[in-house]
Amino acid sequence: MDTIKRLYPKFQNPLLLKIDRPMPKEVAIIGAGTIGPDIGYYIKSALPEIRLYLVDVVESQLNAAKARLEGYAKKAVEKRKMKEDKAKRVLENIVYTLDYNEISGCDFVIEAATENIPLKQQIFEKIEAIVSDETIITSNTSSIPADRIFNKMKRPQRATITHFFAPAWRSLPVEVIVWDKVDRDVVDYLCWFFVNTGKVPLITDNAICFMLDRVFDNWCNEAAYLLPDSTCSEIDKVAEEFVAAGPFYVLNLANGNPIIIETNTLQMEEGEHYRPAKILASVERWKTHRPGAKVEVDEAYRRKIRDRLLGILFSQSFDIIDRGIGTKADLNFGCQIALGFKKGPMDIMKELGENEVKRVMDRFLSDRPGFPTPKEPFSYYQDFYRYILVDEMDGVKIITIRRPQALNALNDDLN
Ligand SMILES: NC(=O)c1ccc[n+]([C@@H]2O[C@H](COP(=O)([O-])OP(=O)(O)OC[C@H]3O[C@@H](n4cnc5c(N)ncnc54)[C@H](O)[C@@H]3O)[C@@H](O)[C@H]2O)c1
Repeated sequence: MDTIKRLYPKFQNPLLLKIDRPMPKEVAIIGAGTIGPDIGYYIKSALPEIRLYLVDVVESQLNAAKARLEGYAKKAVEKRKMKEDKAKRVLENIVYTLDYNEISGCDFVIEAATENIPLKQQIFEKIEAIVSDETIITSNTSSIPADRIFNKMKRPQRATITHFFAPAWRSLPVEVIVWDKVDRDVVDYLCWFFVNTGKVPLITDNAICFMLDRVFDNWCNEAAYLLPDSTCSEIDKVAEEFVAAGPFYVLNLANGNPIIIETNTLQMEEGEHYRPAKILASVERWKTHRPGAKVEVDEAYRRKIRDRLLGILFSQSFDIIDRGIGTKADLNFGCQIALGFKKGPMDIMKELGENEVKRVMDRFLSDRPGFPTPKEPFSYYQDFYRYILVDEMDGVKIITIRRPQALNALNDDLN
């Protein structure tokens, strides 16, 4: 079945959906580590009147989360991005707690605790015992398929994955996963909720690492495999042709090494070629430059690094499309808004042309055998609408411009 129809059976634009359920009044985030407080700040900034609970098992994490949210609001006021009275309302009505029982009245609970299957299973059992049967429960896991974390729940039909990207208070996309037990009404509601609170929901299949993490994790892992023939700085510099910041710079920002080890180990269920590079386990911080700094790279090395990075990017993109993990448009667009790519992978392929893409893929597969190859002709991967969503209601076509990264401005391709 066509991927768009399977993932978006009604409409691609969630604003066209008819939703009976109101906006939540009380929301809980479980886990106040790196990303949990940022998700909380996004929700409170979009809906200052709600009551927000941040739950953790470590008090110092809650204290640090409170300081972080206060810092964000202060900075937003200083930069005149938020009025003082709004900042006050954003910071009001937030409960930082070690006590799960406090979340009993929540309509929506988002789990953002440590990436570990038994731990997440225990958390969902605990949440379910406290909240009502109607509460929607989601996980922010980066990689674990839904059935593996929700399998012990009594009512898994109200649970799915909502996968945010760092920095979650600002980054636009959220992957919303469809899996066999979740009610479609819950998926629709979540998409509607996200679009009404300033996010861009992208529906993806329940594959390991979903859609965009497959690109990100393997891009970073491949960069690590290019060491030590080239330095982190050289690799980042070559990557900057395609992304705002190179893989090592981003890994430092996100404390990402353990996440790549975890997620690529999970992907090894699909083959040995996904094995995480050993060096990821022994390095805490990478020695690299600030994006944009001048770095000399020998031409032969530049070509080698460029081909390998493009090879992994194209291989993952072909695989995501061939397996229907996400739509072509969501993948191309998501790489730009979630991962900082200057152009989407299919845009890069279009610019390089069929022969050059084939050359890159041939070289990549001879260096790194086992990775997925395209199953369709080149033109198939280029055949999609890049900046618009096309829906149909009562026989009338509805076109939505989707270029939030450029405030929906028209460009030559749209004219
Ligand atoms: N960091 C990112 O940029 C990012 C991006 C996308 C998804 N994710 C996912 O979000 C989740 C959290 O990631 P993170 O980077 O914030 O991790 P983290 O290690 O920084 O924080 C995890 C937090 O969970 C808390 N915790 C552990 N057990 C708990 C329990 N039983 N109840 C409540 N809290 C508990 C820990 O004390 C800690 O504060 C993971 O599943 C991760 O894969 C992270």
